[in-house]
Amino acid sequence: MPKVSFAGETVECLEGANLRSVLLRARLPLYNGAARAIHCRGFGTCGTCAVKVEGELSEPTPVEQLRLGLPPHDRERGLRLACQCNVLGDIQVTKYLGLFGQKDDPVGGSS
Ligand code: FES
Repeated sequence: MPKVSFAGETVECLEGANLRSVLLRARLPLYNGAARAIHCRGFGTCGTCAVKVEGELSEPTPVEQLRLGLPPHDRERGLRLACQCNVLGDIQVTKYLGLFGQKDDPVGGSS
């Protein structure tokens, strides 16, 4: 089973599991600030579930590519929307500061 490491925790999930669901089920802090209560609930439209992922994931979906091309995101940063990703192998996930996770510094101060 793939291992998902995030915020100092590691959880296992089924191959192909949705990354947002894995993180929320494990009660890991995917959302920042008000986005904890106000987000699109996984439709790929709000952009607040953006994270950096190292490891094996599904290819970006069309809605994910569209949303990450709109402010405050910048496609060049290579972030992913957790709600649009399926976990295909062991991954390391990093959340950045900002309502959309769009800032340069990681939550917790290290990447
Ligand atoms: S939860 Fe809104 S884009 Fe992922």
